[in-house]
Amino acid sequence: MPKHTFVLNQKPITVDVEDDVRLLWVIRDIVGLTGPKYGCGINVCKACTSHLNGKAFNPCSVRVADIKETDEVTTIEGLADTVDADLHPMQEAWLEYDVAQCGYCQPGQIMAAVALVRKTRREGRRISDKDLDGIRNICRCGTYTRIREAIVQGERRM
Ligand code: FES
Ligand code: FES
Repeated sequence: MPKHTFVLNQKPITVDVEDDVRLLWVIRDIVGLTGPKYGCGINVCKACTSHLNGKAFNPCSVRVADIKETDEVTTIEGLADTVDADLHPMQEAWLEYDVAQCGYCQPGQIMAAVALVRKTRREGRRISDKDLDGIRNICRCGTYTRIREAIVQGERRM
């Protein structure tokens, strides 16, 4: 089988897997990191949201063959390491606002939130209500109000 190398949570990794296997299954089933959740598999629910080179992406919709050797993939398991702490500031905000209910969507929500703060910072502005309205991560438990509050707090801490 073809080999694919990329950087996962700051460490190079090589996997032996067919080209058309989606990255989410490589991360979950081959590497064994189950933070990115499988919801729809078709880039709709956003439960698998992780970061590709610092930006939000959905690994259920990316073939492993389309990931380059220099690409840096970060999952919720590696998020705190990006700030060299036990928890990322956004995770601390999540705990402060007691956001999670069943928890299934929450890794993806946090990864989307961090990517949103980074994006608005690049644009030289704070997160607006419109930005929060634009988050497409589905929460079947309806924790949306607490998610919004935690993102605003997390932005302050980042
Ligand atoms: S599982 Fe990736 S977007 Fe739904
Ligand atoms: S906390 Fe249950 S799906 Fe969001």
